[in-house]
Amino acid sequence: MTKLSVNINKIATLRNARGGNIPNVKTAAINCELFGADGITVHPRPDERHIRYRDVLEIRPIITTEFNIEGYPSDSFIDLVVSVKPDQVTLVPDAHDAITSNAGWDIIRYRLFLTDVISTFKKAGIRTSLFIDTQRSNIENAPLTGTDRIELYTEPFAALFNTDAPRAVEPFVNAAIIARDAGLGINAGHDLNLDNLRYFHQNIPWVDEVSIGHALIADALYLGLENSIQMYKRQLAD
Ligand code: PXP
Repeated sequence: MTKLSVNINKIATLRNARGGNIPNVKTAAINCELFGADGITVHPRPDERHIRYRDVLEIRPIITTEFNIEGYPSDSFIDLVVSVKPDQVTLVPDAHDAITSNAGWDIIRYRLFLTDVISTFKKAGIRTSLFIDTQRSNIENAPLTGTDRIELYTEPFAALFNTDAPRAVEPFVNAAIIARDAGLGINAGHDLNLDNLRYFHQNIPWVDEVSIGHALIADALYLGLENSIQMYKRQLAD
């Protein structure tokens, strides 16, 4: 079964646009779980423009499914994650000013750094995942860092999907086979939506978890949050 982790950063973006506490991020996390999400993802960025470090601390005790924290492993991020102890941490090579994550790790270049950071998280009992693209050298070298999982950066799949779906998914299938054979768990995320998710899932049904934010929260404007989550879950059902 591929799990759906709902990224609630966009709820915080909306809240922050006005100040105050509407919509309430904690309530949103509780409701996402009630509506069928298998997990909650947050991505605190250094400028705290969406989820704030304080949100992460407040959300932790109310999560009853899986809690995934994504981000660049700066010292303050590492301290936050180790103190919060989520189920999973996803390491992303975000530039400080990135609007959204726009690349995966160059594993060969950052191997020693990642190995060190991952061992800190593993000692704290936290499952680790590395955000990477489908390049063979990245997938093949990922196990050397000690990571439990990789998260495939699916933006290139989403970008090509409407033009040529088989060509769009092919590198992801190949990467996922290499990762599976190496014993890595596999997550996926970025620009997955109601149009492309079923196709992605049917081609790589052994993905452990997809993490979806932007499109799902945008769909919720029209469909409601409960319907949206249920519709995304249905894409993963067969
Ligand atoms: N995975 C990672 C590492 C991300 O940074 C993001 C965006 O914050 C996502 C998944 C979700 O992408 P989207 O918002 O396009 O669904």
